[in-house]
Amino acid sequence: MLVGGLGAVYLVYHVVYLLLLWRRRRQMAKRHGCQPPRKLPQIDPFLGTDVVLANLGAAKRYGFLELLKKRHAANGLTFTTNTYFRTTINTCDPDVIRSVLSFQFHDFGMGPLRRNSAAPLLGKGIFTTDGDIWAHQRGLVRPAFATMQFNEFPKLSEHIDEFLGVIKRHNYELDLQQLFFRSVLDSNTLYLFGESIGLMRDDATESATALHHALDYAQQGTILRLRLGNLMFAHYDKKFRESCNIVHSFAQKYVDQALDFRRKNAHLPAEKWQRPKDGIQTYIFLDELAKETDDPILLRDQVVNMILAARDTTAGLLSFTVYMLARHPEVWEKTRACVLENYCEPLTYDALNSMTYLRYVIQEVLRLFPPISTNSRMANKDTVIPVGGGPDGKSPLFVAKNHVVTYSTFVMHRRKEFFGEDADEFRPERWETLRTSWEYLPFNGGPRICPGQKFALVETTFTIARMLKAFKEIVSLDDSDWREQLTLSLTLNNGVHCRLVPDDS
Ligand code: HEM
Repeated sequence: MLVGGLGAVYLVYHVVYLLLLWRRRRQMAKRHGCQPPRKLPQIDPFLGTDVVLANLGAAKRYGFLELLKKRHAANGLTFTTNTYFRTTINTCDPDVIRSVLSFQFHDFGMGPLRRNSAAPLLGKGIFTTDGDIWAHQRGLVRPAFATMQFNEFPKLSEHIDEFLGVIKRHNYELDLQQLFFRSVLDSNTLYLFGESIGLMRDDATESATALHHALDYAQQGTILRLRLGNLMFAHYDKKFRESCNIVHSFAQKYVDQALDFRRKNAHLPAEKWQRPKDGIQTYIFLDELAKETDDPILLRDQVVNMILAARDTTAGLLSFTVYMLARHPEVWEKTRACVLENYCEPLTYDALNSMTYLRYVIQEVLRLFPPISTNSRMANKDTVIPVGGGPDGKSPLFVAKNHVVTYSTFVMHRRKEFFGEDADEFRPERWETLRTSWEYLPFNGGPRICPGQKFALVETTFTIARMLKAFKEIVSLDDSDWREQLTLSLTLNNGVHCRLVPDDS
């Protein structure tokens, strides 16, 4: 009886609360002249099973991004979908994206869903945290990125020698995407820890191979948890936990070294700290971080976040670049001529910078195949953004707390209004005159812009320039169209199978 009474009181309280909330939101929307956004027609507007099934089906057919493009073509730049009683605002409008990522940065965050799904792998790392914790993380990595040196690349050069050696050992015929994944992990560990894990070598250690597989498995598990959303507590997979542990133990070994380095140098000012090294690699990211903090878990989470942020994105960019070059012989020829004209030994940052056409090629690849093709933010309070509402998407839009804004750079980067009638075509020359702002966003914008952008672009330009110098021709061994593989970032499900012809002159 008492329980029933309390239940009734709670129910009444809840209904009144919801009514007041609804009224307050309506008033706020009215005050700001908000208009409701367009809605994707849905058979099931509550659970959104039709949308979820369509998404899953499209992903299975490697066509999720194309589905998004079609939805925007039919429903405008900004429209809502409802799934699991949650409203998602889908947009490819740069003005909406700029409001969310920059002008109203403090009204939006990664949200608890992203944080909790990634926590077993990424801990409290920069990628998933919000507010003060994120600001602290960002403050920690800022000096480490600021001191990165790009003047000479002796170690990177050795690493690319090894990369070219692997191609030779495969008799110049191989899936380059697979090799890029290994190569990028090697070069990133070189910069992060001061030594490459040597995954590309024929005699790669068991622990390097285990890390490679553990990263893949832990990442898949993280995505599954994200997709499960509020049901992620049901995700119990022993191998997922083991994979996260492998990644953490691996990073921990280097964190211990960095802390040792900190202890040994503690009596000196930070700019004089020196680790006995082999004399060539002068920059170690983890050492720079250890100047800022001695918290081992913080350091571990930071490097794991870096490894993940850097590996698939850069490997994806390299893979799509080679894929497009192999399918466009005239672009290969033109890029090669540009590289040879500006080439010098050893290759310097200035020389890379003068390879203008190569830069256009990479910008064009990032436009057509942005590694982070879709992204999202969750409102952490009721807020209003100045555009996105109404049938034309030009009126202010009310965004309720916990609603999600999902934006697609893949769709936005192919909009004809910004990139011309041939927006779907691969035409690097467009960058000779193109000036872009928020409509071109491969590295995100606002306070959370990718801090590794310069590093990624230097590594990609360096790698492709060395390939163009070493090989006079590339032949695609696979006639099929690219198949989308969308995990945390975009890669090719069918890989990049090529034959390279060495330049022996
Ligand atoms: C082609 C390569 C890359 C692309 C396209 C790329 C793109 C991006 C994008 C779109 C974000 C925003 C994610 C979000 O806010 O949801 C991001 C964040 C980030 N990226 Fe990159 N990235 C690349 C390479 C790298 C590399 C090489 C590093 C490190 C060496 C790196 C480190 C980070 C970090 C730490 C963040 C989180 C920043 C924050 O939340 O404050 N990225 N990246």
